[in-house]
Amino acid sequence: MRAAVLREYGAPLDVVDTMETVKAGPGKVKVRIRATGMCHSDLSGMTGKLGVPAPFVPGHEGAGEIIEVGEGVASVAPGDHVIVNFIPACGTCADCARDEGHLCTRMMYEAMGTPNFQEDGKPVYGLVGCGTFAEEVVLPHQSVVRIDKDVPFDIAALIGCGVTTGTGAVLNTAKVREGSTVAVVGCGGVGIAAIMAARLAGASQILAVDPSAAKRELVSRFGATAAASPEEADAVAAELTGGQGFDYTFEVVGRSNTAQAAFKLARRGGTVVVVGLGARTDNLELSMGTLATQSKILVGSVYGGMDVPRFMRQLVGLWRDGKLDLEAMITKRLKLEDVNEGFELMKTGDAIRTVVEL
Ligand code: APR
Ligand code: ZN
Ligand code: ZN
Repeated sequence: MRAAVLREYGAPLDVVDTMETVKAGPGKVKVRIRATGMCHSDLSGMTGKLGVPAPFVPGHEGAGEIIEVGEGVASVAPGDHVIVNFIPACGTCADCARDEGHLCTRMMYEAMGTPNFQEDGKPVYGLVGCGTFAEEVVLPHQSVVRIDKDVPFDIAALIGCGVTTGTGAVLNTAKVREGSTVAVVGCGGVGIAAIMAARLAGASQILAVDPSAAKRELVSRFGATAAASPEEADAVAAELTGGQGFDYTFEVVGRSNTAQAAFKLARRGGTVVVVGLGARTDNLELSMGTLATQSKILVGSVYGGMDVPRFMRQLVGLWRDGKLDLEAMITKRLKLEDVNEGFELMKTGDAIRTVVEL
């Protein structure tokens, strides 16, 4: 089958048609991937920032059809349409018992240690245990969320990471209140999803911060009430909030300097949510005095901040009700052969989401 493989950090993906899938063993399912979004975490993995050993097949924002189920799988059947959930919840650990399955790492690490493919008899892994830049992928049955068949695969794919991560940070982690003020630093797929959720929550002001001028032209469509480059951000924020700062700010780039920018943009007592996945060596420096005296709430948010399958189904409902304009997030469609073009586009910062259709 066809797949795109990262063989060496920093190199483009090698698109091959000789990759082999593995069998869907007990508790596993095989998914024929139909669409996959291109997320910045894929690029971070490919440049070595996340420490994922090469070779691997990137891609973790995917949707497709179940084509095979292993022994003991009752939750889905061949023909079902699913979204890939890259943090499968085991259902039995302390995180799961607290109903915080998005924090359950047991099965994710297990999946990361299990090869999803093979090539010339050698095992090949998938990024975060997935690898959706491939036609077929074998996953634990907890890694798929069944959806109705009328949901297009491209829309479903976006919910696989970016939409869940961005909207969940706003709705579940920060619980943005009606009438409050919001700033979003970084307006890629994840940041745009955060902007849409802030509008849905009834924020009175939503400032979008991004260095891409093309991007700043697009953000009002998703609910941003103002846009600024990183250089202008502090001045624009002062003007918009009467010098106070925002009630909620979101870092959606994945770097310590943008986290610092988001921290600064929040008002005293405001909430700062770090959503971006930074490099493991990038540390956030913050003075003790600042944190205590400004009383800001600094919090991280992973994969939507609540039980993933439940939230994904809620998001499908919001999309169906016309409350999330996910179609407008797709700024480019590519075939798997041209996947590298999508990463070049991502590096410019002008794209919201590129979707690969398989
Ligand atoms: N300030 C604000 N925005 C910035 C800055 C900056 N200094 N530098 C870059 N950006 C913008 C880019 O212009 C782009 O619009 O951040 C955006 C990042 O968008 P994408 O590359 O599409 O990233 P996305 O997939 O949205 O992911 C963002 O969330 O899940 C994590 O790992 C992911 O860390 C990544 C983050
Ligand atoms: Zn992602
Ligand atoms: Zn668990």
